[in-house]
Amino acid sequence: MLYVPCSIFHDMITSANEQNDDLNLDVTLRPQSFSEYVGQEKAKKNLQILIEAARKRSEQIEHVLLYGPAGLGKTTLANIIAKEMGVSIKITSGPAIERVGDFGSILTNLQDGDVLFIDEIHRLNKSIEEVLYPAMEDYKLDIIIGKGPSARTIQLDLPKFTLIGATTKLGSLTNPLRNRFGAIHRLEFYETDEIKKIIERSGRILDVKMDESGLQEIALCSRRTPRVANRLLKRVRDYAQIKDHPMVDGVIARQALEMIDVDPIGLEPADKHILSTIIEKFAGGPVGLSTIAAATSEEINTIEDVYEPYLIQIGFLTRTPRGRVVTELAYEHLGIKCPGKLI
Ligand SMILES: Nc1ncnc2c1ncn2[C@@H]1O[C@H](COP(=O)(O)OP(=O)(O)O)[C@@H](O)[C@H]1O
Ligand SMILES: [Mg+2]
Repeated sequence: MLYVPCSIFHDMITSANEQNDDLNLDVTLRPQSFSEYVGQEKAKKNLQILIEAARKRSEQIEHVLLYGPAGLGKTTLANIIAKEMGVSIKITSGPAIERVGDFGSILTNLQDGDVLFIDEIHRLNKSIEEVLYPAMEDYKLDIIIGKGPSARTIQLDLPKFTLIGATTKLGSLTNPLRNRFGAIHRLEFYETDEIKKIIERSGRILDVKMDESGLQEIALCSRRTPRVANRLLKRVRDYAQIKDHPMVDGVIARQALEMIDVDPIGLEPADKHILSTIIEKFAGGPVGLSTIAAATSEEINTIEDVYEPYLIQIGFLTRTPRGRVVTELAYEHLGIKCPGKLI
């Protein structure tokens, strides 16, 4: 039996990265087709048209860029696109591609029509990006043979592949790279009804019995994010099992969520720590991201990618040119008196 310290337990709910635990959960719960993929109607509709048109022309689809906060379904969507096109998908990520040679062999090993999925594409290094431009545009790969004065360049034809890039930070993509995508879609936070559908579907697959109040409780804590919803469902299921409570209702769900320190709107201790630090040490802001990171001992990237998007989404935090500002709503939620407010 492995002892899991409490802090890791917390971290696993919101954390951006896919963890071991997720791999199993993902395989079982990941939607396999557009019909199983809940919500994101705009992106879905546009992608379906793109696929349909490409099929009619018997061509590969244009390069697609998917962006939005972690856990909203980018990787899932890339897999569905490949499946609907009936092609293979090769999955890699920006930081995993270190050498131009490695990238060259990934590209030359693709087949016509295949999807190359590059996750965290904003983290590609410059030299790889330069190889990518002609590959995306003309399906060409320039390689240099030999060294010194006798070196020469030859150009290889690449298969007509489709690149699907995913990123949490559209702003960090260089313009030349962004401009080479034919379709750019932003994934949105999910509505409560959509999250409920996702939890219901996952509950059916994992064989969890839930009533409406249990479903509602989990949905409201899911940060409008499918990955978080699935993780919470799993924790609640485990708790209900231990408590010998076959039916997950609102009370059991709340007890389970309390045990892992998730509050009724899905905030965790780290979110509250960030907000209360800004309030207590910086008079509610504005304060820069790096200062917040230093004061809370969190990493800048973690705050920016993991905690902040949801806090901004629910109106607890705003971004201004001078830094982050905590809103009145957040003061209220934390039970701290807002200085600007009368009464
Ligand atoms: N639209 C959706 N409908 C149902 N489940 C979803 C949806 N989007 C994501 N999920 C679930 O959430 C998990 C995380 O999604 P993923 O595609 O890995 O997110 P991202 O790549 O954006 O971080 C998936 O394993 C899947 O089970
Ligand atoms: Mg992903």
